[in-house]
Amino acid sequence: MSQALSAAAKLTKAAATRILVHESRRIADRRDSTRMATTADIEGQLNETERRLLTEAITTARPKPKVVIEVGTWLGGGSTIHILRALEQNGEGHLWGIEADPAVYARMIENIRVAAPEASHRFTPLFGYSEDVLPKWLAERGPGCQVDFVFLDGGNNPREQIVEFKLLDPHIPVGGQLMAHDAKLRKGKWLVPYLSALDNWQVTIHDTGPEGLLHALKVAARPTPASLRRATLRLFMLQCNPIELAAAVLPSSVCGFVLKLLPRRFARGLSDGRWQRNG
Ligand SMILES: C[S@@+](CC[C@H](N)C(=O)[O-])C[C@H]1O[C@@H](n2cnc3c(N)ncnc32)[C@H](O)[C@@H]1O
Repeated sequence: MSQALSAAAKLTKAAATRILVHESRRIADRRDSTRMATTADIEGQLNETERRLLTEAITTARPKPKVVIEVGTWLGGGSTIHILRALEQNGEGHLWGIEADPAVYARMIENIRVAAPEASHRFTPLFGYSEDVLPKWLAERGPGCQVDFVFLDGGNNPREQIVEFKLLDPHIPVGGQLMAHDAKLRKGKWLVPYLSALDNWQVTIHDTGPEGLLHALKVAARPTPASLRRATLRLFMLQCNPIELAAAVLPSSVCGFVLKLLPRRFARGLSDGRWQRNG
């Protein structure tokens, strides 16, 4: 009888040990997956310096930005998540992020949900091209709508940043900020000289690498007429560039076909302005 009892006790002990081991493994696994979810290295562009400059522009702004708009989120791990974390650090503000690629858009929303759950209540994704989305978004927000901080990083065509700027500028208050990526590439080829010629914006170009980052502070509500004339003329001259004229009038299928015929380095230089071999 006592032998049977001690065998049963041993069995129970062994079973309890097995259960304990199983349970602690399960808890450790769950902890691991949570850790992976919160620090997930989601894909994003902008180098470390650019991410820091973007973050600091938001965390040091006074008053703190309430309304932030971004064009071109890509997968969310570059500008988007850093803007969101900066807003969360500020304890206020909301980001509307525009993205035009449907596959990228869906992944970006999931990435933000997983990697920045603490800040995702500060985020509204907007799907579509900026030139369609922005006018609708502005109309929905009403005539007094104010945009405190803008980050532009959409397509390579320099016309896009000009269109985006002209749509948003009337809504940016004095003290508002605008940052734009790829200031040294084709993307920023028109906005950088145009904005630099407007005397109601203070412009800095950060030499952060081959791309460059534009950072501008609005210092007066409107430019003087002379500076607006200078900026408009400068923009007109840039728009007369034969390559940009061809890109504007030819169908994109024709442009794509021509680019395919060209040597890779040359085609890349024309499409995004990266002429350097390793840029
Ligand atoms: C260079 S990536 C953006 C990188 C992102 N800001 C980051 O830091 O990781 C450009 C993104 O803009 C999107 N895009 C291009 N033109 C656009 C437009 N007109 N409106 C909205 N999104 C656009 C592209 O689909 C692409 O995902």
